Amino acid sequence: MNDNFHTVHRINFDEPIVEMVARLEREHQDFRSKPETSLSMLVYNRDGSIRILDELGEKIIQHAVEEEARLMRIIMEKARSDSERSIHVMQEHNHVVTFIKNTLPQLRLVPEDKAREQITQFADALKEHFSEEEVIVFPLVRKIAT
Ligand SMILES: [Fe+2]
Ligand SMILES: [Fe+2]
Repeated sequence: MNDNFHTVHRINFDEPIVEMVARLEREHQDFRSKPETSLSMLVYNRDGSIRILDELGEKIIQHAVEEEARLMRIIMEKARSDSERSIHVMQEHNHVVTFIKNTLPQLRLVPEDKAREQITQFADALKEHFSEEEVIVFPLVRKIAT
């Protein structure tokens, strides 16, 4: 994870890895629905709309830290020669974190159509990232963990 992070994140190393992957997948489902909710509120409640993204941002950062700490560790230990695509997917976290740390705080100040465009771009990048994890990273972890 890049160094823009100052918060301390707790990682539970006792959670079995296969259960953890199932939980991460459930979290993806939850995360995917949030930008849409945010967009639907944007016109009449900008504050509430952005608060949803703030909460989502915190959860996503914790989620990404866990992926890097636990999934990448097991991949580098047990499937290093197969790790290239997973490393590439994990690097997308930088883009996600940049949106959360830099773009999100500006969203209250920009015109509504600009805010809508930025939230939509973020939502699309997230969906793409989650799909790649579900197709590339999670199956590899399941394979080496069982
Ligand atoms: Fe991720
Ligand atoms: Fe994820």
